Amino acid sequence: MPRVFLIDTDTASDDAVALIMALKAPDVHVAAITVVAGNVGVDQACRNALYTAELCGSNVPVFSGAQSPLSRPLEDASWFHGLDGMGDHGYPLPKRSVEPLHASDAIIQTAEANPGLTMVTLGPLTNLALALQRKPDLGNLVGRCVVMGGAPCCEGNVTPAAEFNIWCDPEAAHIVMRGGLPLELVGWQLCRGTAALDLTDIEQVKALGTRLGHFAIECNSTAQKAYLEQTGEHGISLPDPVAMAIALNPDVCTGSSTHHVDVETRCTLTRGMTIVDRLGVSANPRNRLIWKDLIQRPPNVKVCWTLDVPGWKKILYQALSQ
Ligand code: RIB
Ligand code: CA
Repeated sequence: MPRVFLIDTDTASDDAVALIMALKAPDVHVAAITVVAGNVGVDQACRNALYTAELCGSNVPVFSGAQSPLSRPLEDASWFHGLDGMGDHGYPLPKRSVEPLHASDAIIQTAEANPGLTMVTLGPLTNLALALQRKPDLGNLVGRCVVMGGAPCCEGNVTPAAEFNIWCDPEAAHIVMRGGLPLELVGWQLCRGTAALDLTDIEQVKALGTRLGHFAIECNSTAQKAYLEQTGEHGISLPDPVAMAIALNPDVCTGSSTHHVDVETRCTLTRGMTIVDRLGVSANPRNRLIWKDLIQRPPNVKVCWTLDVPGWKKILYQALSQ
C-alpha cells in the first residue's frame, strides 16, 4: 500500500528537486501539490510545479493557493533562485493548468480522503494556516507533517534570526505551530556544510546522464551563486530535498527531540524567529516570575537536530537517476 503524500510548496529550484524525489519514490502516491507564494509569486510557482511534474511524467493535481502572506505583503526570494525561481533558463510553459479548487480547501479535502497521510511543507505556511482556520481539527487526519523551515537555536538565512519560510509569513507559522499537527521541523541549519551538494556531488549528479539530473543542477544555477555570496560556501544547498528525504525515510533524521516551539511575529529584528524551549523552562512553575503569562506550553514540535548526510544524498541520487 503506497504512502500518501500532500506537498505544499512555493516551487522554486530546491522545491523542484524535492518534488522529483517524491514523484519518483516507488512507494509514495503524491495525492496533491498545493502551491503558495514565497520564493516567487504563486502563479510562477504553479508553473514551476506543473513543469516539474511534467518532467516526471506525473499528472498529480496542482492547486494554486495564497498569493501573499496572511497579513503582510509578499517579499519573495527571487534574489536567490532567479526571477522565475528556476535559474531563468527559459523553461517552456507547462501543458497542464492548475485545478479550480483553492489550495487550502485541497489540503482539507485531501486529508479527509486520505486520513493518516504525510504532509510536507516546503514554503511559507500560509495555505496550511488557512486550512487550519477552516478546519481546526485537521491535525487528527494527519499522520506526519514535515516542515522545511526555521532556524532552531541558530542563525537564519534571511535575517540573523530567521529562516525564509517562517520569516515570509510568521503569522501563518505561529498558527501552524499551535495547530495540533504532528510537526517535524527540518531547519535550514541541517542543509548547509556537508549536507549541501559540493562540486564533486554536482559532477556525480551530472554523470548520471539523466534529464532529471541535468535539470536538478541547471535549475539551481542561480541558487548556487547566491549560496556562495550568502555563506561563502561552494555548492548547492537543498533545504527542501533534505526535508523531503526525512519525509521519505524518517531514519535520515538521526537526532531529534520534542519541545515547545513558537514564532516571533511582533518584532522587526526577530521577525520569524523559531523559539525552541529546549530546556523546558516555559513549563516549569519555578519560572513563574520570568514568564508573567506563564501558561503550560506543552511540547508541540519534533525538532530535527542531526542528519544522515550520505543517507539523504542516496535518496536524492536514486530519484535523479530515473
Ligand atoms: O530557507 C529555505 C527555504 O526557503 C526553502 O524552502 C526555499 O525553497 C525557500 O522556500
Ligand atoms: Ca521552498
